[in-house]
Amino acid sequence: MPDNDVRLDYANLLSPHVVGGIASERLAGDLGERFRAAHVAVEVRRAKGDMGFLDLPRAADTVAGVKAVADSFGQWFHDVVVLGIGGSGLGAVSLRDALLGPFWNERSDEERDHFPRLHVVDNPDPVTFHGLLRRLDPARTLFNVVSKSGSTAETMAQYLVARGWTETGVGPERTPGHFLFTTDPAKGALRRIADAEGIPTASVPENVGGRFSVLSPVGLLPAAICGVDIDGLLAGAAAMEERCRTPDLNRNPAGILATLLHQADTEAGRPIHVLMPYSDRLRSTALWFQQLWAESLGKARGLEGEPRHTGPTPMASVGATDQHSLLQLFMEGPHDKVILFVAVADPGVDVAIPPVHADVPSLAYLGGKSLGQLLDAERRATAEALRREARPNATFLLPRVDAGALGQLFMLLEIATVYAGALYGVDPLDQPGVELGKVLTYGLMGREGYEAPSLLAAAERWIV
Ligand code: PA5
Repeated sequence: MPDNDVRLDYANLLSPHVVGGIASERLAGDLGERFRAAHVAVEVRRAKGDMGFLDLPRAADTVAGVKAVADSFGQWFHDVVVLGIGGSGLGAVSLRDALLGPFWNERSDEERDHFPRLHVVDNPDPVTFHGLLRRLDPARTLFNVVSKSGSTAETMAQYLVARGWTETGVGPERTPGHFLFTTDPAKGALRRIADAEGIPTASVPENVGGRFSVLSPVGLLPAAICGVDIDGLLAGAAAMEERCRTPDLNRNPAGILATLLHQADTEAGRPIHVLMPYSDRLRSTALWFQQLWAESLGKARGLEGEPRHTGPTPMASVGATDQHSLLQLFMEGPHDKVILFVAVADPGVDVAIPPVHADVPSLAYLGGKSLGQLLDAERRATAEALRREARPNATFLLPRVDAGALGQLFMLLEIATVYAGALYGVDPLDQPGVELGKVLTYGLMGREGYEAPSLLAAAERWIV
C-alpha cells in the first residue's frame, strides 16, 4: 500500500479484539453481501446522475475556472470573508484549519506569503459579525457569498449587511468588485443579482448537494484564493474514489466504515459515532463530518416513503483535549458509541520536551521526548483502554495533514455516507427535516407569502 494512502485500522471493531465485536467471518458473509447490495444501489444512483460529488475530483474545467478566479482576486484583497452556512461553510473552515495551519489569520502578510486572511461566517450572530466587520477595511475585503439555493436566510442577511457596509466604505459603483458568488448554475437570487451586476460567480453543480460540495467551488475557491494546493486535494480525492469502486467489502475503505457503523447502530445498539482526530488541524473536519453524517442519515422516512425515524448520532471530538472531558463518558457510560480516531503519522512539526526538572519523577519521564510523541501515545493508549472496556473503536491513519490526505479523507467519508444511506434505506442526499423551521422563520421575519406562526406565543410557559 503506497505510503501516501489514508488507511483505516478497524481491528478494534472486530471480535476477538474487542469483546462483543463483529465476527470477522461476517465480512465475507452476510455483511459482505449487504454491502454489495448497497454498492449496487449507489452505482444505480450514480448512473442516473445523482452523485455529482463523485465526479468533482476530475472536473478539470471547474478547477481551471477556480484557479483563474483565485488568481485574479487573491492579490487584491487582504481579507476574504466566506458567507455560507451548513455545507456552504463547513468545508471552507476544514480546508483553512487543516491546510493553512494554525493562526493563519494572525500571521503577518509575509508569513502568509501575501495570501489573504480567510474568515468563514456561518451563524448570523450580530456580535460576531459586527466584531469582524470592525476589524476589516472595506477597500481590501472580498466577500465570497456561498449559497446553492441563493435563498438561505442567514447567508442572505449577512450578504445584505456586507453589501451595505461595502457600499458605505467604497461607494456603490465599486461595490460589485468586492463580491464573488458561489451558487446554482441557473437558479436563485444570487444568480439573478450576479447576472444583472456583472458579479463573478462560480457554480455549484446541480447534482452536488451542500454537504457534499467541499471539493466543488464551494470549498475550492476560498482555498485556492489563499494558496491551498487544490490539485493535490483533488488528486487525493480521485485516488480514494477509485479505491472505493470495488464491491468487495474487504477492499473498500468507505464500504467497511459504512457497514461496520451501520451494523454497530442497528444490531449492537451503538448509534453514537464519534470522530476524534488527534490533531487540532482536523478539529473542524470532525465538525464537517458531524454535519455530513447527521443531515444525510437522520431521516423520518425510508426510500418508499415509509416511516423510519432512523439515523446515527455523530459527534465531533478532539484528542487529547477530550480525554479530560468526554472520555469518562466514552469509557464508562452507556455502551452506545463507536469512537473513530484520526492519527497523523508525521505531524510535520514537532516540539522537543527539554529534560528540565529531571529530579521530579512526575515530570522527568517527559524530558527528551516530544509533544508529538505524547499526543500519539495518548491516542494509542486511549484506543487500547477503550478496547479493554469492550468499547469498539477504529483508527484512520493519515500520512500527514496535507492536501492529498485531506482529499482522501473527505472522499472516503462522503462515499461512506452514501453507502450508509443505502444500508439504512434512506435518501442521504435530501434534508426535508430542516424545511419546517425555515418556513416558520420566514413567517416570523415577515416574508411575503409566509404566515407568522401564531401558536408560538401561546405555547410559552416560563418559570418566574
Ligand atoms: O448540506 C446541505 O444541503 C445544507 O447544509 C446546506 O448546505 C445549507 O442549508 C446551506 O444551503 P445553501 O447553500 O442553499 O445556502
